[in-house]
Amino acid sequence: MPKNNFVVGLDLGTTKTCCLVGKFEDDDSGGSLQIIGMGSAPSAGLRRGVIVDSDATVDSLIRAVEEAELMAGVKVSTVYTGMAGGLVQPRISEGFGIDQGGLEVEGNLQGMVSSAETIIQCTTRAGLEVAEFCLEPIASGESVLSSQEKQVGALLVDLGGGTSDIAIFKDGVIVHAGVLPLGGHQITNDIALGLRLTQVEAERLKVRRGCALRALVKADETIEVTGVSGKGPRVLSRQVLAEMIEPRVDEIFTLIQREVIKSGFQGLLSAGVVITGGATLLEGMPELAEWVFEIPARRGFPQGVGGLRNVVNSPRYATVVGLLKYGARNSSRTRSPVRERNIYDKVRGSMRTWIKDLF
Ligand SMILES: Nc1ncnc2c1ncn2[C@@H]1O[C@H](COP(=O)(O)OP(=O)(O)OP(=O)(O)O)[C@@H](O)[C@H]1O
Ligand SMILES: [Mg+2]
Repeated sequence: MPKNNFVVGLDLGTTKTCCLVGKFEDDDSGGSLQIIGMGSAPSAGLRRGVIVDSDATVDSLIRAVEEAELMAGVKVSTVYTGMAGGLVQPRISEGFGIDQGGLEVEGNLQGMVSSAETIIQCTTRAGLEVAEFCLEPIASGESVLSSQEKQVGALLVDLGGGTSDIAIFKDGVIVHAGVLPLGGHQITNDIALGLRLTQVEAERLKVRRGCALRALVKADETIEVTGVSGKGPRVLSRQVLAEMIEPRVDEIFTLIQREVIKSGFQGLLSAGVVITGGATLLEGMPELAEWVFEIPARRGFPQGVGGLRNVVNSPRYATVVGLLKYGARNSSRTRSPVRERNIYDKVRGSMRTWIKDLF
């Protein structure tokens, strides 16, 4: 791969591994980023955003990378990948005294280093090197928020399969980050339990007919379900399905709102809340978010890339597009990929970059 012309983002998610190959074209206007390849494979190796099964993770990432390579017609060797937002939470909320050290910072750094080590073991087994890590909520923010929103103050919520990432941006920088171990999986689970369905059937029903706000569903709308007992299909009101979903989404947003209040930034979110991640595709999500947070809400779609932009035009791809953009922005500066022996320094260096250089 010619150095600096191509950049690769790799998102290891709880439900999918996603790889994007971008071509960075340096032009007079400061450069543009074209997506030339995309690969996605179901992921089974993560629980709540953390790798718990390396074999399954490696399998899935090889499949995603191979698919992206095939489409792009290039061989991928180095990737920009993400790190879960919760790992830096205390650090950021204390006001970025990165150089000051201290026990809590070191403990936190340890958590990040061990997470980085697991990711590097998996990527190495797949024949890849990690160029740099980016904090996942920073990547999502990079992809779905405008610089103006980051400037005036915005809450970003990334509702994935296993986790909900939270980030607050103000004056152009990330000022708070956190993560909840709740996401789309819990919504599916509630539907499966409530309507006595298999997980597969509950997921299918959620994606096709789900709604996060009961009030948006008309009284005469119906759904057909086949229960675990295998008895013939039952016809139910779609409002019943919404009743299984709304309390969980309400709970997730309410827990996030509590964290926002604790962070002290609640009154400073003039740009409102931007919700992204696959779970926000549910009908009624922005409406419910607006109701709970009491600020304007919108769905966040990845922005600022060219080429195959249509294939990533979904909240599901917010993080991977952000990783690609982060890579394009930093590729000239990335001197050596992260290797086993210098993970500690590299992660520490990345933390500085996330907070000081990115915006
Ligand atoms: N059309 C849809 N309607 C409702 N939910 C959806 C839809 N499409 C995907 N989802 C849900 O989105 C979730 C996956 O989102 P996403 O792809 O952002 O997660 P991930 O990045 O793999 O996981 P994480 O970020 O938690 O590690 C799943 O729970 C899935 O059921
Ligand atoms: Mg995700």
